[in-house]
Amino acid sequence: MCGIIAYIGNKEAYPILIKGLQRLEYRGYDSAGIALMNGSLNIYKKRGKVQELVDFAKHQNISGSSGIGHTRWATHGKPDDINAHPHCSSDGRLTLVHNGIIENYSPIKHALEKKGHTFKSQTDTEVLVHLIEEVQKQDNLPIEEAVRVALSKVVGAYAIVVIDKNDPDKLVAARKGSPLVVGIGDDEFFLASDGTPIVEYTKKVVYLEDEHIATMHRNGKYEIRTIDNEVHTPFVDELNMEIERMEKGGYDYFMLKEIYEQPTTIQDAMRGRINAEEGWVRLGGMDDHVDIVKDAQRFIILGCGTSWHAGLIAEYLFEDLARIPVEVEYASEFRYRNPVITDKDVVIAISQSGETADTYAALELAKKNGALLYGIVNVVGSSIARLTDAGSYIHCGPEIGVASTKAFTAQVTLLTLMALQIGHERGTISDEYFKKLLIELENIPEKVKKVLDSNDKIKYIAAEIKDSPNAMYLGRGYNFPIALEGALKLKEISYIHAEGYPAAEMKHGPIALIDENMPVIVIATNKSLNDKIVSNIQEVKARKGVVLAIVTEGDNEISRIADYTIEIPDTEEPFTPLLSVIPLQLLSYYIAVMRGCNVDQPRNLAKSVTVE
Ligand code: F6R
Repeated sequence: MCGIIAYIGNKEAYPILIKGLQRLEYRGYDSAGIALMNGSLNIYKKRGKVQELVDFAKHQNISGSSGIGHTRWATHGKPDDINAHPHCSSDGRLTLVHNGIIENYSPIKHALEKKGHTFKSQTDTEVLVHLIEEVQKQDNLPIEEAVRVALSKVVGAYAIVVIDKNDPDKLVAARKGSPLVVGIGDDEFFLASDGTPIVEYTKKVVYLEDEHIATMHRNGKYEIRTIDNEVHTPFVDELNMEIERMEKGGYDYFMLKEIYEQPTTIQDAMRGRINAEEGWVRLGGMDDHVDIVKDAQRFIILGCGTSWHAGLIAEYLFEDLARIPVEVEYASEFRYRNPVITDKDVVIAISQSGETADTYAALELAKKNGALLYGIVNVVGSSIARLTDAGSYIHCGPEIGVASTKAFTAQVTLLTLMALQIGHERGTISDEYFKKLLIELENIPEKVKKVLDSNDKIKYIAAEIKDSPNAMYLGRGYNFPIALEGALKLKEISYIHAEGYPAAEMKHGPIALIDENMPVIVIATNKSLNDKIVSNIQEVKARKGVVLAIVTEGDNEISRIADYTIEIPDTEEPFTPLLSVIPLQLLSYYIAVMRGCNVDQPRNLAKSVTVE
């Protein structure tokens, strides 16, 4: 949430900052702003998308070889020009961009007001820059020292970059709980919330650690100190990203591109980890911990939103194939309960961004209680990836559309591999069934391609139901989490109210909502529960509900009673979620486009949720 970009070197900063903000816009799009150092400090900020800022800046002085930029997801203060970052100290000497929340901003603000500070915005960020100013003035400190001392008084999360007009050949950055990456070029530095704005300039990066403060000098030198003022020797990492994967590549929206990437991304999640012919599955991340994992007394799976839905599917997979008891928890609830965790538990965290604040905090709690932490993460080098003891990257490339699609199927693929490996090692699945499942899993990318061929039919159905104010999604077994995921996809990008339910729960309440205006999307691809699903569909039809059924190819019985059907290829039951979710992603996408919504940047949302 909120994107930060900064540059210091010998190039013009403006194009780097704007391009960077466009890359980071998925993190928030309530406002955008930049500050450019060019003898004087020029600050431009605008409510709305980065394009608003670009249009405004066309008529301004945009020269300068250092600067900072920010794209905002509003927390404290409404989205407007005044609350937009950067924010300045009272005398205009310091300028700062911030991602995170300063929790004790209110007492600090009151104390500063007593000392004569006045504030223009409603943000916690402005309080922080005034605090740094106050500390700097008291002892006439260099900016990096003032930042360090000020941050030691702060409670909360932050990634910040600060410019001091009186010390223009320096940028100072710090982080705690919110990500910040330093890109190291030739006598130049880039800073950003993730690697996407940096990769086209340099691949050498340092992932700043919590409570570390970095000072970048225009002459190419940099230094990192801890908040306790100890010098830290950084580890220089290599960014492994392809620029093409960050472009729309001819699609109208990133979301559509990402839906269509799934045959490849599922394949990528499996690459080098499965060989059906030789009969093995192996996750490298488990190598050093395989005994702990396979002998775990319980798996606790943590995640939020779509990642939590992937966790729910994993519950079916692990219990079914590996016979290990599983609890799937919303990280935000888990962290504030007093959960029972022991060193015999294995905690699996699922996160695309690897930065979700609640998931991170829940993991810290589990770590304190001695559980082994295993991460299923997409973004390499992210905070969750670094906190966990072991893990496997899902390798689906940057996911830019705010609604998660390809990350979800890659997460489910990874969890499927994990369940197969553990099940095989524990001897809870027969060799014959194991082999059969491996062969089928390798076929899944081709089958996803086939589902994508239903695009036109899905578009037609989307046009038929796009004006409904509500929708209900029903599924059983492996497809119950898919009902939840289908409903989430629809509501978050089209703003249609949608609910997901286990199909059998319908008669315990939600059935009261069904009439001729209620589309009911039934995921009816489970062979084991097919008869029961048919009865549920009959119950909906008897109340005049409009049924769209996702069925297995050749299922004529359901096709006869449903109003619309979309077929998916036959597969083994544990793998149906990987196919049945695809039409639901496309359905939400087309409905949202037809309703005129900005699919990639739905209102009020941001991709990487680094605040509670
Ligand atoms: C929905 C969506 C969100 C995320 C959630 C967790 O389409 O994308 O619900 O799944 O915010 O994010 P990560 O996976 O980054 O922890």
